[in-house]
Amino acid sequence: MQVLGAPPSPDRPASELELEIGPGRGGFLYERLAQGPEIRIVGLEIRLKWASLVDQRLRELGFAERGRVFAEDIRFALPRFAPASVSRVFVHFPDPWWKKRHAKRRLASGDVASELARLLRPGGELFVQTDVWDTAEAYRLAIEAQPAFAPFGDEPGCPLLEENPYGARSPRERRVIASGLPVVRLRYRRLDTLP
Ligand SMILES: C[S@@+](CC[C@H](N)C(=O)[O-])C[C@H]1O[C@@H](n2cnc3c(N)ncnc32)[C@H](O)[C@@H]1O
Repeated sequence: MQVLGAPPSPDRPASELELEIGPGRGGFLYERLAQGPEIRIVGLEIRLKWASLVDQRLRELGFAERGRVFAEDIRFALPRFAPASVSRVFVHFPDPWWKKRHAKRRLASGDVASELARLLRPGGELFVQTDVWDTAEAYRLAIEAQPAFAPFGDEPGCPLLEENPYGARSPRERRVIASGLPVVRLRYRRLDTLP
């Protein structure tokens, strides 16, 4: 499926596709797309209202060829992506789902992590950030259960990053930084071959 822009041709090689999970009000998408014409990004947002508003805003900003948001639950949408079709996945401040009965809705599950391993290309990046320590730990455990991912943080062998290296911030990230709370940032790289 050609999601964004004209199909690739010998004169126009396919640029990389990025994916944001749960973009909410969309700040990260706008800032990321403003970085340059080579950026193409798709957001999957479960709330129809926000998905529609942000998709409309992308059109108004002139990014429609390179940026879209679809109203989708990632648990059903991720399996429809082709293998190795995405270069980066961003998960900014996912809902923590405190209640036990909501555990199934949590995105930090083995099913989601294995789908992300499948759709990321070798060398692709998975970035997760949150201000909730338990959420960070749940993601760390789910991702590290997948042999396809290696930590890609500031220090070798560790997924922790001090700063967001992507030059764009999500709305929640801005609020958390303004309130002075710490942010836990994790990054992993999709291995070329499985160990
Ligand atoms: C706490 S908000 C954070 C919004 C934004 N990422 C930010 O950092 O400002 C979590 C977002 O994930 C979305 N979300 C939750 N579960 C989802 C799912 N299964 N599929 C797609 N989006 C989901 C929510 O609707 C919400 O917009």
